[in-house]
Amino acid sequence: MADEAKLKLALVGCGGIARAHWYGIQHFAPRIEVSAVVDVNEEAAKTFAEHVGAKPYTSLERCLYEADLDALDLMLPHHLHEWGASACFRAKKHVLLEKPIAMDVSTAERILKGAKEAGIKLMVAEQAQYWMDVVKTRQLIDAGAIGDVITARACFYDPLKPFDSDNLPWRFHLSKAGGGISIDGGAHWIRPMRMMLGEIDEVVAATTRHIPEMEGESVAQAVLRFDSGVIGTFQAVQSTGALGPIEDFRITGKSGEIVIERGREGRLMLYNEANPQGQNVMSAFESKAASYGVELADFADHVLDDKPLAAPPEYALGELRTAIAMYRSVRTKRWEKVW
Ligand SMILES: NC(=O)c1ccc[n+]([C@@H]2O[C@H](COP(=O)([O-])OP(=O)(O)OC[C@H]3O[C@@H](n4cnc5c(N)ncnc54)[C@H](O)[C@@H]3O)[C@@H](O)[C@H]2O)c1
Repeated sequence: MADEAKLKLALVGCGGIARAHWYGIQHFAPRIEVSAVVDVNEEAAKTFAEHVGAKPYTSLERCLYEADLDALDLMLPHHLHEWGASACFRAKKHVLLEKPIAMDVSTAERILKGAKEAGIKLMVAEQAQYWMDVVKTRQLIDAGAIGDVITARACFYDPLKPFDSDNLPWRFHLSKAGGGISIDGGAHWIRPMRMMLGEIDEVVAATTRHIPEMEGESVAQAVLRFDSGVIGTFQAVQSTGALGPIEDFRITGKSGEIVIERGREGRLMLYNEANPQGQNVMSAFESKAASYGVELADFADHVLDDKPLAAPPEYALGELRTAIAMYRSVRTKRWEKVW
């Protein structure tokens, strides 16, 4: 049997998320072969290259010039997304770009246009697209398991990683991150809300900062009004202390509720007339742990076989626009349209 075609991929940015992508490739994306890694930090590039078994580069341009590649997986600070994507477009290489697509809508639209003009395939990495508890929730809602949805809430509590105050992480700077927790990790809670409840029409938000070194918001509270008229809430906290139990999502219908519990033991629970004590529908954790690899496999199938992506890159505008509308609302103290 002939060897199956492989996607020759470079991992660009050897930081935190690169480890999750590499784990995912090893376990869930057998059609990907990582032949190069890139990081401006020479030590980071070298160490990760040894870990992965690929050639290290400290310059994206050099890697694009020298390495035999089909595509690049860009895991760079937000202010470098357009720079990195444009360099790949010029070199006619396909791109998997980590979320958020960009720090503002016009840059995001330039990136989408650049990919089209170059005739290359672009995917925005948002692993929540592959969370099976979220997909199942949408199916349960559509099947009428909780009746008409009347409200929903998303709670994102993200423990703050230790940091060096003499060398602050890029995501602490507004000029490099584009915002705080909402534009960053918050995307992984906004995407499921859209998948489960449809598009968000408008938002009203308040944010605060409790981490002095972090310029962007570390607490966000927002009310989201969906196209359907349903209102829900989005809560995001960069937590700095011990955390109590909380669910990730709660969808309330006229005749029941769906609760997506948090953490390794978390479950997707359905409460309705037939299950007043709650039915354990599935684990809410397993597919989350696998989702980075499933996402990379989706990208490989898209590039190699032209298989449509689970979500086209334009869909990622929704999380970005929601976060940006929240930031506008903080300034205007009014409801702000997302689209
Ligand atoms: N999907 C997720 O769950 C998830 C989680 C974390 C981060 N992210 C996203 O991944 C991206 C990277 O985040 P991170 O947490 O891994 O950041 P990080 O700071 O841990 O890693 C970024 C790496 O990029 C390198 N870098 C900086 N400039 C470079 C350049 N010009 N060329 C090559 N390398 C360069 C840095 O040296 C660093 O090693 C961001 O878009 C972030 O939002 C996604």
